[in-house]
Amino acid sequence: MILGIETSCDETSVALLERDGTVRVNHIASQIERHQPFGGVVPEIASREHLAHLFPLVTRALADGQAEWKDVEEIAVTSAPGLIGALLVGVAGAQGLAYGLGIPLIPINHLEGHIFSPYLQREGPALPLPERFLSLVISGGHSSIYDVRRGAVTMLNRTRDDAIGETFDKVAKFVGLPYPGGPQIEKQGREGHADPKRFPFPVPQFKDESADFSYSGIKAGAIRLAREQNISVDGDPQALADFCATFQDALIAQLFDRLEVIWARVAGRPSELAIAGGVAANGVLRDRMLEWCNKHDVTVRLPEKRYCTDNAAMIAFAGLQRENMAGDPRRVVARSRIG
Ligand code: KG4
Ligand code: ZN
Repeated sequence: MILGIETSCDETSVALLERDGTVRVNHIASQIERHQPFGGVVPEIASREHLAHLFPLVTRALADGQAEWKDVEEIAVTSAPGLIGALLVGVAGAQGLAYGLGIPLIPINHLEGHIFSPYLQREGPALPLPERFLSLVISGGHSSIYDVRRGAVTMLNRTRDDAIGETFDKVAKFVGLPYPGGPQIEKQGREGHADPKRFPFPVPQFKDESADFSYSGIKAGAIRLAREQNISVDGDPQALADFCATFQDALIAQLFDRLEVIWARVAGRPSELAIAGGVAANGVLRDRMLEWCNKHDVTVRLPEKRYCTDNAAMIAFAGLQRENMAGDPRRVVARSRIG
């Protein structure tokens, strides 16, 4: 079995994965309540919480997975990107465990964890990875489309400013909804009717025909409209619901706009499109993605909701794809950024 450890942001997570990708346990200690009073993640609090939870979680994962230390053949740990203090807790912990057990340690790029996560199943072995797939990673820190061929990842676009999840969070915070804002906007929007006349959020285009994302314009526009029209949790509930529905529609519309461009440009046809990251838990997006893939005759892979937000099962699974990186635990280095 492979032990996965994830501590890059505000969830401490430990998982045990069998070699066929079956998730034996995937424990997550969420810190959301600790950060909520501040309206976002406080790095120092995150590090301390990881320190308090990591080892108890490892012990519990082994007990609940009916495993012993001798069953663990290697450890996969998120080493980048993320909050440096948070990453250091996971990396140092994993180094100590791997060194003590005399087993290899695999450093994992958190993004690759998300990229492969749609292939994990709720029960039983993971789905086989196709020869080639397009991956859309949409989270609090990232918005990018990747071309994944035989496990090699090429970035096709990125965001020039804010990530989509971050945009959900900041606008939600402005109107007084609690952190994290994505699920809150989705919930409020369910009672609303999208009205692009009242809340105009155009999809931004670049002069250079780039397929990059850009969310800062929508963020600024949403905050301005909310201020002008008095949209908040203390105001008219229907106006808030309509605002959330329109804003969510605009964020999602940009995803499809760029996906359409990239799909037309990409040479050859990937057989599958896999969506990953916290924002992939959004129900409206999931329904539209199913429709889009139906229309374009491509198989869609939507991750189980439990594997959308940060978790160690996806890190252990990325470890299986990156076993060539397994090595001396002392050589693994935590980095806040990649490259
Ligand atoms: O992948 P993740 O747990 O952490 C990062 O690696 O960033 O993603 C967290 C992000 C947050 O911005 C959160 O608001 C967003 O995912 N999110 C959602 C939903 N659930 C989580 N956004 C929209 N709709 C949701 N249902
Ligand atoms: Zn993440």
